Amino acid sequence: MGYLVTILYIVAFSMFIYGLSGLTGPKTAVRGNYIAAVGMLIAVVAVLIDIRDTDNWALIAGGLLVGVVLGVPPALRTKMTAMPQLVALFNGVGGGTVALIAWAEYLNSDGFTAVEAVPSAPFIVGSLFAAIIGSVSFWGSLVAFAKLQELLNKNVEKVFVSNAKAFQVANMILALVSIGLAVFIGINADGDPQSSLLIVGLLVAAGVMGLFVVLPIGGADMPVVISLLNALTGLSAAAAGLALNNQAMIVAGMIVGASGTILTNLMAKAMNRSIPAIIFGSFGGDAAAAGGASATGGTVKATSASDAAIQMAYANQVIVVPGYGLAVAQAQHAVKEMAALLEARGVEVKYAIHPVAGRMPGHMNVLLAEADVEYDAMKEMDDINGEFSRTDVAIVIGANDVTNPAARNDPSSPIHGMPILNVDEARSVIVLKRSMSSGYAGIDNPLFFADTTSMLFGDAKKMVAAVTEELKAL
Ligand code: TAP
Repeated sequence: MGYLVTILYIVAFSMFIYGLSGLTGPKTAVRGNYIAAVGMLIAVVAVLIDIRDTDNWALIAGGLLVGVVLGVPPALRTKMTAMPQLVALFNGVGGGTVALIAWAEYLNSDGFTAVEAVPSAPFIVGSLFAAIIGSVSFWGSLVAFAKLQELLNKNVEKVFVSNAKAFQVANMILALVSIGLAVFIGINADGDPQSSLLIVGLLVAAGVMGLFVVLPIGGADMPVVISLLNALTGLSAAAAGLALNNQAMIVAGMIVGASGTILTNLMAKAMNRSIPAIIFGSFGGDAAAAGGASATGGTVKATSASDAAIQMAYANQVIVVPGYGLAVAQAQHAVKEMAALLEARGVEVKYAIHPVAGRMPGHMNVLLAEADVEYDAMKEMDDINGEFSRTDVAIVIGANDVTNPAARNDPSSPIHGMPILNVDEARSVIVLKRSMSSGYAGIDNPLFFADTTSMLFGDAKKMVAAVTEELKAL
């Protein structure tokens, strides 16, 4: 049976890695996900075979049932625009589980004074690391979920953001308390049984730190934070695996930890942020607290579907800039139809993709691929930014923050320094959205008031369809 378990683990790990490699492109991502999921099922079966002599079958079956009942329906029902919230919640549950495992192991071994594993150091260090990081990740992910789901009142959120410095000091104290308690527990592990309150203190200090790290983080930096929390959960699971000598947890945890860390770095780079700067609250700071960049003033020009159609029909090149609103309206097929008509008239159509447009990494690529937009037409920010100044019309569809020139021009803006699509450099800009309201970062966008910009107010799908009808009539 021991061999069977090892073979099943190897099969499962190979499937994790092969599945993960599928996630590098939208065409192979779904298959990659299924392969990794089957790998996880095999790993679970291997664990069950490994622990076949246990007396706790009823408890295990109950746990699996609760997991399936609570996990499957939201995963099936959640819309793609709400996926980051779901990921934050599922991620938090992973971190919480790891923290609970560490707690249970502490109690089982009388405060690590009666550890069976030889040598005991990996068990103790792994468990304590898992307890701290798992607790940070659980509570931090809950706050991330609440923020993304807009359960936190915006005014309350602003109070947290404007007091980032106080949170920073509190976090340093909490980090010292957590590490201090971990060291105390560790160095007393060969002494008398220890109080069960010590581990509770450690979990509480780390948990409050998780809350305090995420509460003051400003709007546009949330994608990086979610990815960071993911990486932390992976690392805590790997540490718990080390403690329990469970290869499946070590490998799966390290894969999540490593890929999460790479993704966090890539996203921080794309946002021109450093990870410590995000965590220690130097972004989304004072200006956001004051309500973001001040109202830009100036006049706004409104346009109509027929004027927008004429403008684009006689252009040499049109750049489509998709954003979160395109995803909400599910306008991708309508956009593809409109682009096909323009192309039939000899207009070159390109799509400018910002790395954090929408609400998850690759959101726009996935949406446009669903509507069969050619990959070659989707241009990454660095490749397209030089082209706006040579472009007749840029049409912004449901995007806002990723086009905000304040990020480039206004040092007081909470998103200052974040690279944006240089839409304002196009000869003319059409912004399609329902109102003048702000995007995710909650700040005004001077692009809407620029001389070259006209606003096309309406739902993205309906309005693009209206423009398409006008194009057909030309
Ligand atoms: P946002 O800045 O959030 O702006 C989206 C705009 O879409 C809104 O201003 C909204 O204006 C408009 N909209 C909503 N529904 C619409 C509809 N049915 N039809 C037409 N327009 C509609 O989006 P963005 O430019 O894509 O930027 C993304 C933001 O989300 C960034 O701040 C980013 O940091 C953050 N974020 C990103 C991620 C990832 S990983 N991508 C994860 C979490 C957060 P109206 O209400 O006036 O229509």
